[in-house]
Amino acid sequence: MEKKIYTKSKDETLSLGKMIGKNAKANQVIALNGDLGAGKTTLVQGIGRGLDINEKINSPTFNILKCYFKGRLNLYHIDAYRLEDQINTDIGLEEVIDGDGLCVVEWAKFISDKLYNYLEINIRIIDDHTREFVFIGDETVYHNIFSNLGGFNDEL
Ligand SMILES: Nc1ncnc2c1ncn2[C@@H]1O[C@H](COP(=O)(O)OP(=O)(O)O)[C@@H](O)[C@H]1O
Ligand SMILES: [Mg+2]
Repeated sequence: MEKKIYTKSKDETLSLGKMIGKNAKANQVIALNGDLGAGKTTLVQGIGRGLDINEKINSPTFNILKCYFKGRLNLYHIDAYRLEDQINTDIGLEEVIDGDGLCVVEWAKFISDKLYNYLEINIRIIDDHTREFVFIGDETVYHNIFSNLGGFNDEL
């Protein structure tokens, strides 16, 4: 299934993320793509709120992986940006990708060979405040999320 959503502010993106966090299930994977500043980390911050994680979530670029264990589900936040062009990415990411919680990957295209059964969200910058989110994934596996997208703008 494919569905397009637009947000017109950072707060709307946080709300979209919160909805995703509320509806996510254990063992799911969310693959985020989009340029620098598109809103990947902002969306993950919203997901954290939806999972009732109170810790501050920021970009894990320099850590590659950050784990949050205090929410409704464990959240594994990967930033694959620095894995671009690396032949050896064997640093144990598979364990969290196929783990007990929700795994969210920024720059997912750089580790796409390690990801499967994921919900892909491609984010595009329309203008300073507007972002396009294209959701692509299995309608059955990600039913809870797809069925709640109705509350968000599907037009510019
Ligand atoms: N609709 C929007 N959704 C998300 N962020 C937005 C939006 N409009 C403007 N922004 C700004 O864009 C930036 C997004 O940054 P960030 O989430 O860190 O992006 P990324 O992780 O993709 O590099 C923030 O500075 C945020 O304030
Ligand atoms: Mg980021």
